[in-house]
Amino acid sequence: MTRSAPVSPVARQVTCTAPVNIAVVKYWGKRDAKLILPSNSSLSVTLSQDDLHSRTTISLAPTHVTDRMWLNGSECSVPANERLVNCLAAARRHREALEKANPELPRWSTWGIHIGSENNFPTAAGLASSASGYACLVFTLAQVLELPLTGPELSRYARLGSGSACRSIMGGFVAWNMGTQADGTDSQAYQVAPETHWPELEALILVVNDAKKGTSSTVGMQTTVATSALAAHRFTHVVPERMRAMETAIADRDFAQFAELTMQDSNQFHAICLDTYPPIFYMNDTSKAVVHLVTAINRLMPTIQAAYTFDAGPNAVIYAPRDHMTRLLQLFTYFFPAPTDVSTRDFFNDPYARVPEGVV
Ligand code: DP6
Repeated sequence: MTRSAPVSPVARQVTCTAPVNIAVVKYWGKRDAKLILPSNSSLSVTLSQDDLHSRTTISLAPTHVTDRMWLNGSECSVPANERLVNCLAAARRHREALEKANPELPRWSTWGIHIGSENNFPTAAGLASSASGYACLVFTLAQVLELPLTGPELSRYARLGSGSACRSIMGGFVAWNMGTQADGTDSQAYQVAPETHWPELEALILVVNDAKKGTSSTVGMQTTVATSALAAHRFTHVVPERMRAMETAIADRDFAQFAELTMQDSNQFHAICLDTYPPIFYMNDTSKAVVHLVTAINRLMPTIQAAYTFDAGPNAVIYAPRDHMTRLLQLFTYFFPAPTDVSTRDFFNDPYARVPEGVV
């Protein structure tokens, strides 16, 4: 996280950035939708801040009559976004408690909040924009309201905005412990290893389609929990052991083990999406071709070269040691050449992407 300083003695303004994280053990399912408590623990890699990130500016002023928000330049309704309202309310309550305990503190809890946020990558296209977006929002709120929050506390606030956001509060390799408390006080992220632990590990993002995804994560996971028997099996019988194995692979910097677990977990996440009724398809034919290519490369070489993983969209994230990246990039650009005109690009991305919902 980075921040810039307040600019005026009366109105306050802070700008921060927060990075995206890409899960290698996926979160998909909530046991409490209001508090955003997950059905399973998860683990992710936070990407470097120089890559995909959200940038949020919050200004606080007595003259701001209502709370307002602009996302990527367009104003969106604050009251219509319950999660945003929850994050703002939690931060204000915290500030209010501080002001009550110390009456000399300025009454910022009564001021209006204006938020401007933008992503330097496609929003809601399955590239973890809600993770970096909400992590950035709560971090910036904590700065502008001078809330003395610890990492785990920030993580719990970010979770109220979007589950995966609780992992973007920390860098490196981050696990989100699902917790057992009904009020969510133990459902927060912790750092498994810092970014310096495994600097040779790199991520390559293959944007297959930058359109907004058809089924939102929130709606998708609700339907999965309600209808998929395979998901119930995953929560109890697969993820707990996989979390342990993944933490060991990271501790040992064992790429073969890390890659195998990552690919298996991505496969199982998309399997529970298919097992959802009605089924959810996030991967398209190009995504599947990426899986085939990575599988073929790994089979042909004496050691595992790369791992693929797909979130709630067709875009691939490839994890690989730095030494393998140049060769992998050559292979990806050879097999998936950049489209040259718009119609080819649309077709190449996903021939079904523009068919209106309900037609197929
Ligand atoms: C597939 O965090 O976007 O990326 O909590 O409903 O906001 P909400 O969902 P969100 O879901 C992310 C799902 C995922 C897997 C992951 O990041 O673990």
